[in-house]
Amino acid sequence: MSDAHLFTAVVPAAGIGSRLLPATKAIPKELLPIVDTPAIQYLVEEIVASGIPRIVFITAKGKEAIIDHFDSAPDLEALLAGRHKTDLLGKVTAPTTMAQYIAVRQDRPLGLGHAVLMAKKVVGDAPFAVLLPDDLIDARRPALRQLLDVYEERHPHGVLALMEVPEADVSKYGIVAGRLLDDRVMEITGIIEKPAAADAPSRFAVIGRYVLHPDTFWHLERIPRGAGGEIQLTDALAELIRSGKTLLGCLFEGRRHDTGDVFGYLQANIHYAMKHPKLASKLRAALPGWLEDAPEP
Ligand code: G1P
Repeated sequence: MSDAHLFTAVVPAAGIGSRLLPATKAIPKELLPIVDTPAIQYLVEEIVASGIPRIVFITAKGKEAIIDHFDSAPDLEALLAGRHKTDLLGKVTAPTTMAQYIAVRQDRPLGLGHAVLMAKKVVGDAPFAVLLPDDLIDARRPALRQLLDVYEERHPHGVLALMEVPEADVSKYGIVAGRLLDDRVMEITGIIEKPAAADAPSRFAVIGRYVLHPDTFWHLERIPRGAGGEIQLTDALAELIRSGKTLLGCLFEGRRHDTGDVFGYLQANIHYAMKHPKLASKLRAALPGWLEDAPEP
């Protein structure tokens, strides 16, 4: 039996969403809809489907609406119940009961490593998962579950999701060095945050899913600021590797979208619309005509 129910999932959601401005001026990017559902709900569904029932959102000022989305909304629920809108009522209440939610504020924007460190007290001395909401992964077996499978089978110190990216994109990611153990699992021997193409040890990029040992916090508390003047999770993982701990990479199966980027956000909407029973055939039929009549930029 899986021990995922002992884990906490940490979801850093304190970023300002600069790549999606001005849309994200007053709305947290995590709540922008992918078709008809906020992007972050897909992530929560992935966590729950992976067997983890406890989620810590790392938020910041102006991001309260994220918590509201996963809280009950008595007035709206009463209104929908009164109008016998059972279907809508189910959609409104579903997110509130999926998991146990905890919110922790990140008081200063000091980077992903700092955001993860904010969860230390809640996570305690147990392994935990980190999921970055910009990375939406549609997979037959939930991506986080694929990482947990590797973790439970091989008992490493941590597991990171990996994807091969074009050379032109390596400077956007944490990039690993390592050796493949089989077609899905890599032993990671080094990791560097956003290297120039010339310095990248491979084209295997870390995508936002991590299963980590609690001593990651120990390193996060001690590493100096890294790329962009921020406390980088990647630098703490590099320290773990240097101290002789085994980190594995999981070349997950699934389609990943970067919803923090305008083009990736559009792609994700089309992808999920094509999976939507009421929209798929309409969209497929309409698209060629829309493209034909499309205005010039
Ligand atoms: C973060 C991590 C980076 C990782 C990426 C995946 O970067 O720091 O190592 O490859 O997420 O999406 P960010 O995109 O937040 O700058």
